[in-house]
Amino acid sequence: MSEDEKRDLMAIDDLGGDLADIIDWAIAFKHGGEITQDFKPLDGMSIGSIYEKPSTRTRVSFEVGVSRLGGQPLTLLSNDIQLGKSESIADTAAVLSRFLDGITYRCFNHADAEELAKYATVPVINALSDLHHPCQAAADLMTIVERGDSVSGHISWVGDGNNVFHDLLLASVCLGRDVKYATPHGFEPDEEVMKRAKQIALKTGSSISGTNDPVEAVAGAGVIYTDIFVSMGEEHMEGKFDAFDGFQVNEELVSHAHPNYLFMHCLPAHRGEEVTDGVIDSSNSVVLDQAENRMWAQMSLLTLMCNEDAWHTFRELV
Ligand code: CP
Ligand code: NVA
Repeated sequence: MSEDEKRDLMAIDDLGGDLADIIDWAIAFKHGGEITQDFKPLDGMSIGSIYEKPSTRTRVSFEVGVSRLGGQPLTLLSNDIQLGKSESIADTAAVLSRFLDGITYRCFNHADAEELAKYATVPVINALSDLHHPCQAAADLMTIVERGDSVSGHISWVGDGNNVFHDLLLASVCLGRDVKYATPHGFEPDEEVMKRAKQIALKTGSSISGTNDPVEAVAGAGVIYTDIFVSMGEEHMEGKFDAFDGFQVNEELVSHAHPNYLFMHCLPAHRGEEVTDGVIDSSNSVVLDQAENRMWAQMSLLTLMCNEDAWHTFRELV
């Protein structure tokens, strides 16, 4: 694939109007049964995944998903490769592009993902940076869309205005969903991301509102979403945790939501901190569906980005 044709995924709004189709494809593939058995769009291809941070869901869902599509997954842990030690991002990107057909990258600084994408001649997918987590958002919106009209009410976020929230917000407004978020003072979402989300919302008719009051955000909500308060790479931020006093998603807080609300969390969860056992283990919780849907959503993304003709062919089959 030539550099001109390649498509990268740094943030979920890079997909623009294609997000709904990518999710529909993932849902069709998940439930496709026998028709999917012989569908091997990544046959003969190798997809490398670089990790600077730990991962359970992202790593396993990419490895299994690539294999199911007929490709060869390679996991490249940062301690084992030259990147960040004796080789630049640009050189690593150029070299890996001679072996691989696609690269996923979990990194600390979002600018590093942008740089890898700039110098790679194959598609690059951001597998979580400090600013964005687009694969998570694709799976999250898939989990909501899968449930059809049973989800009534807005999507609410309670907690840190972080990487997971940024892409949940962008994906939600891309699909015309309303979002209300509650963050503590000083932990609001990134201003530039918010600007992009507002521009998209103007086109899709979504509303976005922010508050410092969790009850206000979840009142009447169809979805309540939270994440850990201190993300990977922020362990040095003394006192950050204390700012989240009152932001736990517990039985009292969820009593303000729609009775059929979905509880969502990207996982890993710190039980007893941002969420109680009673909420995450309740029948409203869809956290395991979210985790599973990482694989289906990424299979849709990888097929589109690495073999677009096959992606369209599958659409015609179902
Ligand atoms: N949600 C998520 O990205 O999980 P991992 O850190 O385990 O990959
Ligand atoms: N906000 C979390 C998400 C983990 C999947 C982090 O970046 O550590």
